[in-house]
Amino acid sequence: MHEALLEVEGLHVRYRGVPAVRGVSLRLGRGETVGLIGPNGAGKSSTLLALMGAVRASGAVRLHGEDVLGWAPEQIVRRGLALVPEGRHIFGDLSVDDNLRLGLVGRRDRSGSAEAVSRVRELFPVLAEFRDRQAGLLSGGQQQQLAIARALLAEPDVLMLDEPSLGLSPTAVDTVFDALAAVRESGVGVLVVEQRAEFTVAFCDRTHVLHEGELTLQLSPADADDDSLLTKAYFG
Ligand SMILES: Nc1ncnc2c1ncn2[C@@H]1O[C@H](COP(=O)(O)OP(=O)(O)OP(=O)(O)O)[C@@H](O)[C@H]1O
Ligand SMILES: [Mg+2]
Repeated sequence: MHEALLEVEGLHVRYRGVPAVRGVSLRLGRGETVGLIGPNGAGKSSTLLALMGAVRASGAVRLHGEDVLGWAPEQIVRRGLALVPEGRHIFGDLSVDDNLRLGLVGRRDRSGSAEAVSRVRELFPVLAEFRDRQAGLLSGGQQQQLAIARALLAEPDVLMLDEPSLGLSPTAVDTVFDALAAVRESGVGVLVVEQRAEFTVAFCDRTHVLHEGELTLQLSPADADDDSLLTKAYFG
């Protein structure tokens, strides 16, 4: 068993009393990659936002064994959890380098910033190549690499991503999953929310299926070719 970096137990999120996440429990060990898939409105984003401290939730969220539920997002980032939200949120008018600089504010330790930037440039060489380019001129896949790199500058133990391949061309989707593979190789845990079930199930150590706020199924890479199982994952 991996050391549990992130442990979620009985997580509930309600919006004005209406449940969106209903008793989600999952764990992620050091360097593990876990997927979370499910149809629109299943509660995937709400789960990530709750873990990040960005929406009110109940249950338990333990990071390194410490319950961080109720903490402010910036405290949670400093404890080792980072989120690449849906839609990338890069600053299109700023240069690639300036976008990276913005990622340095989440660091626990301000020293070592230059080394951290070097490391993400090594992970994603295109960010070094286009360092002075306006970020808005990068391709969709490259922008997602930039968003991932920026989140990595906080040096998280677990990186969470909300639909990183959304709206991208097939080549860009490959770029994003290559980027996730690089993140995994670097030893960072990954919790990825996706709509692309087949890719995700094949890529992750395990993938949870979320349905109307509840985890209904757990899939392993061997299930990726099982169309009926994946269909069941989406349609119950
Ligand atoms: N801020 C909010 N206020 C009220 N209801 C919300 C809010 N955010 C989400 N919801 C509702 O909570 C439920 C779960 O939404 P959530 O965005 O977490 O789902 P999702 O699985 O990420 O969906 P998608 O695949 O469309 O991104 C939905 O019914 C949604 O309408
Ligand atoms: Mg969502």
